[in-house]
Amino acid sequence: MCLGNICRSPTGEAVLRKMVKDAKLDHCISVESRGTAGYHIGEASDARSRRAGQQRGYDLNGKARQFTREDFAKFDYVLAMDQQNLRELRRLAPDQPSKDKVRLLRQFDTTAEPGAEVPDPYYGGVDGFNLVIDICEKACRGLLDHITKELAAL
Ligand code: 4NP
Repeated sequence: MCLGNICRSPTGEAVLRKMVKDAKLDHCISVESRGTAGYHIGEASDARSRRAGQQRGYDLNGKARQFTREDFAKFDYVLAMDQQNLRELRRLAPDQPSKDKVRLLRQFDTTAEPGAEVPDPYYGGVDGFNLVIDICEKACRGLLDHITKELAAL
């Protein structure tokens, strides 16, 4: 989850979905993304995110959606790209179990500082979009390892 659902979270979604597919886990793990804000509802992902993704083998082909309270029932993990989105998602949560689903994505990157965010690339240059992919690859690898262990313990 990010702010607009046109840059960071569609990138995270594409990265994680590819990892899940490559690990042949797509029958049991589904991946979606949303924004906490509604400014870009229905829009394609930012052309800069699509281009950067395409160059690294990721397909960003969704349309922006806004996260709603009802989404808490749908997902086991609600992963925030930054602290602002983390706060907003926790504020929206209808109960404590929903609140507990909300974590920072980078929490799953063991090399990242506690509280680390995925920086918003929207107002910057192309490097920022590539950095978002680098960060998402590390964090999603850690996240998938974590989920795989949880699934094995079921
Ligand atoms: P995102 O990036 O949250 O990664 O999708 C942004 C997209 C749009 C805006 C800000 C950040 N905006 O201000 O419109």
